[in-house]
Amino acid sequence: MAKRIITTDATEEDYRLEPGLRPQRLEDYIGQEKAKSTLKIFIEAAKQRHDSLDHVLLYGPPGLGKTTLAGIVANEMGVNIKITSGPAIEKPGEMAAILNNLQEGDVLFIDEIHRLNRQVEEVLYPAMEDFSIDIVIGKGASARSIRLDLPRFTLIGATTRAGMLTAPLRDRFGVVNHLEFYTEKELQTIVTRSAEVLKVQIDTRGALEISKRSRGTPRLANRLLKRVRDYAQVRYDGRITAAIAAEALDLLEVDRHGLDATDREILSLMIDKFGGGPVGLDTLAAAIGEDAGTIEDVYEPYLIKNGFINRTPKGRVATELACCHLGKAIPEAR
Ligand SMILES: Nc1ncnc2c1ncn2[C@@H]1O[C@H](COP(=O)(O)OP(=O)(O)OP(=O)(O)O)[C@@H](O)[C@H]1O
Ligand SMILES: [Mg+2]
Repeated sequence: MAKRIITTDATEEDYRLEPGLRPQRLEDYIGQEKAKSTLKIFIEAAKQRHDSLDHVLLYGPPGLGKTTLAGIVANEMGVNIKITSGPAIEKPGEMAAILNNLQEGDVLFIDEIHRLNRQVEEVLYPAMEDFSIDIVIGKGASARSIRLDLPRFTLIGATTRAGMLTAPLRDRFGVVNHLEFYTEKELQTIVTRSAEVLKVQIDTRGALEISKRSRGTPRLANRLLKRVRDYAQVRYDGRITAAIAAEALDLLEVDRHGLDATDREILSLMIDKFGGGPVGLDTLAAAIGEDAGTIEDVYEPYLIKNGFINRTPKGRVATELACCHLGKAIPEAR
């Protein structure tokens, strides 16, 4: 599958450039008011009690700011953060070692926490609940288990798939926050702030133009900002206006609803070749030359969520919005 500029997963470039764009304090973290206000209270309360913060689970689609928020929580608590991820910890002993090396109050951030294997996960249960771990020393008949006390730490888990978390793990989080897609206004503020950090001149309408095409996702907004900046610099004097942003993004084939060429191809095919649908997933996949799983997992969710495609028992249907957006007549008999 070709790389899509509108992917919300982190790309190599994102890994390099994102750290510099991450807000460091809660007051600079834009949007997510519900998550922010809950965390603010818990942080305040923990600080007053001179205690560690309750364990926090952050879930939501890629690029919405889970890693960023974990860093902010550690900053606000004034503690260190140790970062790891589910697939990186293979053995229970590794988990035990990480926990044992934490300092009082530290944040342990586990990204993709749904991908922890079962044995590793089981080390976490007593660690989260009683701040202790049981380790087995020796083998066979002489093996014995000793209990090791841990410092009081805060686990922050992040996942894009909350449904894949086991119940015992999920139940051990005191604070659970669902991150939502951002509004255009919020993304506009994020683009404006990122432009300041990158020392790019952009006016408010230029920032709005980028935010409209960013699929509700700050990671994508920042990526598009960088592409538009390059364009403005090469073709113009570097200042980004709405017209320049639109021109650059049209060139990148990211349209004003954040759809790319493949999204539009899927919709066009549905309308032109299949009378707008209903069309079965496999038939559609064959017509596009992609496999059905990719259509279902990668392309379709955004189109369905934003009302371009409806899923019916008989198959997929292109909506009136899709027809209007592509400037096509609405198919009659359906
Ligand atoms: N609320 C926000 N305010 C400002 N910038 C934000 C906000 N949320 C995210 N960002 C920006 O978006 C980028 C991506 O965010 P982040 O890496 O935290 O996402 P994530 O949810 O951890 O994604 P993934 O699921 O891929 O790990 C960050 O570098 C940051 O610059
Ligand atoms: Mg992350």
